Amino acid sequence: MEQTLAIIKPDAVERNLVGKILGRIEKAGLKIVALKMVQLSKGEAKGFYNVHREQPFFDSLTDFMSSGPIVVAVLQGERAIEHWRKIMGATDPAKADPDTLREAFGLSIEKNSVHGSDSPQSAAYEIPYFFSHLELVNP
Ligand code: CDP
Ligand code: MG
Repeated sequence: MEQTLAIIKPDAVERNLVGKILGRIEKAGLKIVALKMVQLSKGEAKGFYNVHREQPFFDSLTDFMSSGPIVVAVLQGERAIEHWRKIMGATDPAKADPDTLREAFGLSIEKNSVHGSDSPQSAAYEIPYFFSHLELVNP
């Protein structure tokens, strides 16, 4: 069993897409083992996306990610990291496969509605960034 961090980004929360996206997660058979809504400060968004600090999109991305509430979740399942990224689709909604969340809901390469860890190493950084072990359940 693997765990991954999922985020419903501010553009999707703002458009009332939380239920639809959580429904898609459940329909896919991934287990939600932690869940909450938070709003990041700019500094907290920079810490979360630290690996991208040298990227040209870093300042705009961290402004966006701190611009409104987000829903963060830990998803569990077999190959959960890859499974969730497949459900999300490509980073750029214009290049995302049909029936992916980013294809359905993404507004732009930045405002692409959802986040998912990209490796066991990133999940190991991202999950404790938001959740203490006391906030994770074992279904
Ligand atoms: O989220 P994902 O792992 O698919 O992509 P990333 O390369 O790790 O980039 C993180 C986030 O930065 C993306 O999800 C976009 O919101 C944003 N981004 C952007 O604004 N412009 C880019 N050219 C690439 C990424
Ligand atoms: Mg990434």
